[in-house]
Amino acid sequence: MSFPKNFLWGGATAANQYEGGYITSGKGLSTLDAITGGSHTKPRMITYKTKDGKIESIPSRGASLPEGATGYVDPKVYYPSHVATDFYHHYKEDIALFAEMGYKCFRMSIAWSRVCPKGTTEINEQGLQFYDDVFDELLKYGIEPVVTINHFDIPMYLADTYDGWSNRKVIDFFVFFCETIFKRYKNKVKYWMTINEINFCKSWTNIGIHKNDPQTIYQAAHHLFVASAKAVKIGHQINPENQIGMMIAYIPSYPYSCKPEDVMAALEFNREKEFYMDVQVKGYYPNFKLKEFERQGVVIKKEVGDDEIIKEGVVDYIGFSYYMSSVSASNPEEVGMTGGNQVMAGRNPHLEVSEWGWAIDALGLRISLCQLYERYNLPLFIVENGFGAVDVIETDGSINDDYRIDYFRKHIKAMEDAIEIDGVDLIGFTPWGCIDLVSAGTGEMKKRYGFIYVDMDDQGNGTLKRSRKKSFYWYKKVIESNGQDLDY
Ligand code: BG6
Repeated sequence: MSFPKNFLWGGATAANQYEGGYITSGKGLSTLDAITGGSHTKPRMITYKTKDGKIESIPSRGASLPEGATGYVDPKVYYPSHVATDFYHHYKEDIALFAEMGYKCFRMSIAWSRVCPKGTTEINEQGLQFYDDVFDELLKYGIEPVVTINHFDIPMYLADTYDGWSNRKVIDFFVFFCETIFKRYKNKVKYWMTINEINFCKSWTNIGIHKNDPQTIYQAAHHLFVASAKAVKIGHQINPENQIGMMIAYIPSYPYSCKPEDVMAALEFNREKEFYMDVQVKGYYPNFKLKEFERQGVVIKKEVGDDEIIKEGVVDYIGFSYYMSSVSASNPEEVGMTGGNQVMAGRNPHLEVSEWGWAIDALGLRISLCQLYERYNLPLFIVENGFGAVDVIETDGSINDDYRIDYFRKHIKAMEDAIEIDGVDLIGFTPWGCIDLVSAGTGEMKKRYGFIYVDMDDQGNGTLKRSRKKSFYWYKKVIESNGQDLDY
């Protein structure tokens, strides 16, 4: 049998896309509460107030906000994160469905602003209690919680007052938050990840920074590295059994052709994520990035001791998302572009794409697993993978999502090959949006990933009723057979 006996089969979600209850029981606002819905042709917008009180909006992707702008929730506008698919009020029902599928683990994030409404050292006990209740419910069914400490939702107060992660003070606030939850959930949670897709932490939306120039982005990255490393150290002190990972969005890029210039272009593209992983896994900044900083005039302000902290706070495993691959060429005009996770991607003529333009590449997952394991030699955890699609409810109420089953079947087979043939140490698999939730990129409900359907549309209409898709029964069988029975 290729999958290890204790393989962590499960599903993945994030607070800001799933939980709802955006100001319920003392929760403070996060940046993502001020982002509108959109589609793949219409961008999501940040609504904000300028220094002189004007209400404005700007496309959220790669936005640079005017100095002094503060996030603003406009009562006339619909924001999908406010109710999302309402895990806050449905957690018992949802966890029962996860248990029915046989989940061994469940990945979720803790909303920082639910525990610390402003992101500072003020605590909201009701927020802590909510997660106690959720963990107790999971543990009741023997489901191991896998917790992302921060999944893109920085408290709005920190963005407004400190310019988010560009400010070193945010390190202390984050470490306080981590220490609080490590202590509180000491006997309930063992698997943690510090920062979701750290290589996508470059915007106001995800980390509260107003400017998006390289100096601001990489200074903020340095603060994230120090904070994450401190959290890893404290987490190990509080409970030596804690397994604390990093989390990267892994989009491997292939050379468009065998022309050496194209190979070099792909190498350079891939370095961006390797930079984030090298720091968090090896514990130091790689030379290629230091040279790039020199060329760009980026100067990272460090404090004495930062390098040691980063070295001592390396992670226990690599969590990563894998949805798609891309291609790079020395002359980008030779390559067509297609949609992608947070960024547009070079289109690979050999691959089909989803309705949102994301390349479908199961072998790319095996390639990624090999690249990661051979470079870092750490246990790997696929904490996101999945197929965003429009689901149709038949007149008898069934949802026959064969396309999703087909996508997973091929990706799970690729995982099996990586374990069996390549000897990769893979510890778990949590498909993304295992229950329908709001899309991060487009803010849509229409782009669904779940095994469980939730009745909610892009305008916020729906009963929130849950129903099982065909893939629900299929994934249950996959888990039951520990990945051996992939037929449908
Ligand atoms: C990952 C994020 O980038 O991709 C998730 O961690 C996100 O938050 C997922 O939802 C899928 O992207 P999208 O844009 O289809 O929701």
